[in-house]
Amino acid sequence: MSVVSQPIDRTDGPLKVTGQARYAAEFQLPRLAHAVIVQSTIAKGSIVSLDASGAQKAPGVLLVISHLNAPKLPQGGKAAIKPPAGRTLSLLQENVVHYNGQPIAVVVADSFEHAVAGADLVRVRYAEAKAQLDFERAKRDAYPVKQMPQGEPAVAWGESDKALGAAEVRIEQTYTTPMETHNPMEPHATIAAWEGERLTLYDSTQYISGVRETVAKTLGIAPERVRVVSPFVGGGFGCKGSTWSHVVLAAMAAQRAGRPVKLALARPQMFGPVGGRPQTEQRIALGAKKDGSLVAIRHDVVSHTSLMEDFTEPATMPTRALYACPNAAVSQRLAALDVGVPTFQRAPGESSGTFALESAMDELAYALGIDPLELRLINYAEADPRTGKPWSSKMLRECYADAAERFGWAKRPAKPRALREGHALVGWGMATATYPAHRRPAAAMARLLPDGTALVRSGTQDLGTGTYTVMTQVAADALALAPERIDFELGDTLMPPAGVSGGSTTVASVAPAVKAACEEVRGKLASLFAPGREQDVVAENGWLWLKSQPSRRESYAAILARAGGAPLEAQAKAEGEERDKGPYATRSFGGVFCEVRVDEDLGRISVPRIVAAYSVGRLMNAKLARSQLIGGLVWGVSMALMEETHLDLRDGRIVNANLAEYHVPVNADIGAIDVSFCDENDTRFNPVGARGIGEIGITGIPAAIANAVYHATGRRIRKLPILLDDLI
Ligand code: MOS
Repeated sequence: MSVVSQPIDRTDGPLKVTGQARYAAEFQLPRLAHAVIVQSTIAKGSIVSLDASGAQKAPGVLLVISHLNAPKLPQGGKAAIKPPAGRTLSLLQENVVHYNGQPIAVVVADSFEHAVAGADLVRVRYAEAKAQLDFERAKRDAYPVKQMPQGEPAVAWGESDKALGAAEVRIEQTYTTPMETHNPMEPHATIAAWEGERLTLYDSTQYISGVRETVAKTLGIAPERVRVVSPFVGGGFGCKGSTWSHVVLAAMAAQRAGRPVKLALARPQMFGPVGGRPQTEQRIALGAKKDGSLVAIRHDVVSHTSLMEDFTEPATMPTRALYACPNAAVSQRLAALDVGVPTFQRAPGESSGTFALESAMDELAYALGIDPLELRLINYAEADPRTGKPWSSKMLRECYADAAERFGWAKRPAKPRALREGHALVGWGMATATYPAHRRPAAAMARLLPDGTALVRSGTQDLGTGTYTVMTQVAADALALAPERIDFELGDTLMPPAGVSGGSTTVASVAPAVKAACEEVRGKLASLFAPGREQDVVAENGWLWLKSQPSRRESYAAILARAGGAPLEAQAKAEGEERDKGPYATRSFGGVFCEVRVDEDLGRISVPRIVAAYSVGRLMNAKLARSQLIGGLVWGVSMALMEETHLDLRDGRIVNANLAEYHVPVNADIGAIDVSFCDENDTRFNPVGARGIGEIGITGIPAAIANAVYHATGRRIRKLPILLDDLI
């Protein structure tokens, strides 16, 4: 029986619950010093004077680095700008301030407390310049996106404007989403340690190879001299996909201090210098025939970026793929602000984009007098609408049917304000979830040890998502060994390299490499066991035997012992894809249904139940998959009703840079969540048949909630988060 798909417990669970899992800030190094970042308090301008003398004399302070004395980096620290790994960093190379919260000095001391106290004594005077902080104003100078990693920034097919003009029914609306900030449980942290010319970084990252390359290029040293170690990550969600300033600053500080340095960001420092989701304004126009079939779609997005770097929230991406429509046009523009560079945040594009598109589809359904689910089925995309390519696998129809049935959608009254319970208006809403599936190159090694256990490694990451567990399962099947006999290791650049754990690509990319390395080892073992008769060899649970002669049976350990006792080893590499070049369109989908209750007097909104079904390819681990989707849906509730990063328009300070005022749900905010999956195996996409599940959960649900709020109250809210003051 296959170990893949089994709902086994996390293999790293015991290490985590017993505190043995070591996160970046927890590595113990001799003579470890502590660094604290001093941040700018203005949004734009220059540093006129920076007086570190008080800090330097403070107890325990070893050194203060600022633009006055920082080591000069090649190309002013800009040598490695190549997103996603390399971004525009603030590395104390100049006295210019680009945003409030920018690192402007680093204080290193013998203890964390001394570093904090020292940082407090750094005196800075600025020459302030007028900053652009107002999205509404910056929008007037919005400019077209030149390129974005997800695809062409603007595409069109057919003649959407003409078709819109001639459409029997038309809706045109603007939807907005706010700036948001990632808040993984574990803030960013780096320990940097030099041994002569060699640098080791213990870093909380989604991309160890990216950190290595970025840091090496930024410092002007060979990548081979940099080792990055990241065995456990306490959540990433995109903010740890790029290498931010603090990582390089830790390396610079350690070099200057002549001893290892730990630089762990405090929670408030997570808001600004390490990215966040851009705010968006999205204009959508839909045209349809009276029978509900779409004739035209337009989706035009403006999102904010930093004046330092273009980063695009690609909110038009889902619109290119969700519905069959002969005429469509989408575009992306940027409005630049004097703020920190924004970045990828869980389901970048799809989460914000499906809010707009799936709200607009709901509005169209009411305009047509057609049930919102029926409208989606009328416009079901049997192939990729833009390219006409067939899907590698798509079971969205089954998802809709399954989730609708379990939700009881058929009993939904068509009119808003038709359901009520006591003081609460009750509403039912639905939306489509979607996220693309991609593969990146990855390598792995497998080693069968003399005791019949195996060591398998890949230089990938586990953000808490389950990479350890799933790769153990893949290796177990490929080696025909029980998962308990496999030790899977990751998170070290000394291992065979893999890509960024972002874009829901880890399983799809790394599992084929792990499978191939393990199968090669198993092939070698079969040759030792029965040379020339490998086709006749059967493997099961640590034993080989001959199909034609079942009595000829031997354990892995015995075979290795007979062959001299040396381990068997293989390395394998799995190719990535050439994006958009393959014969199939590859994307995951889901149907999301929810109920909201709105207190008629107070406007208080709750979401007592969510039912969702997903088409995501083969499930590698049913238990982890369900948890992953529940987590995504919870974040979707958060996006719909709570999260917003508030910028003070006077000075660019993020005013709610803490978990008391940046609202996220607690357990009591979340109702029943019912997640199911289609029985699917997408081997056209990759040899393990899985498309990746890290991000799709947050998509669709914000629109489903907005649509349910409309159904409950008759009030269409086209902005996130939907707050009680929007409803009273
Ligand atoms: Mo994800 S936002 O691509 O880490």
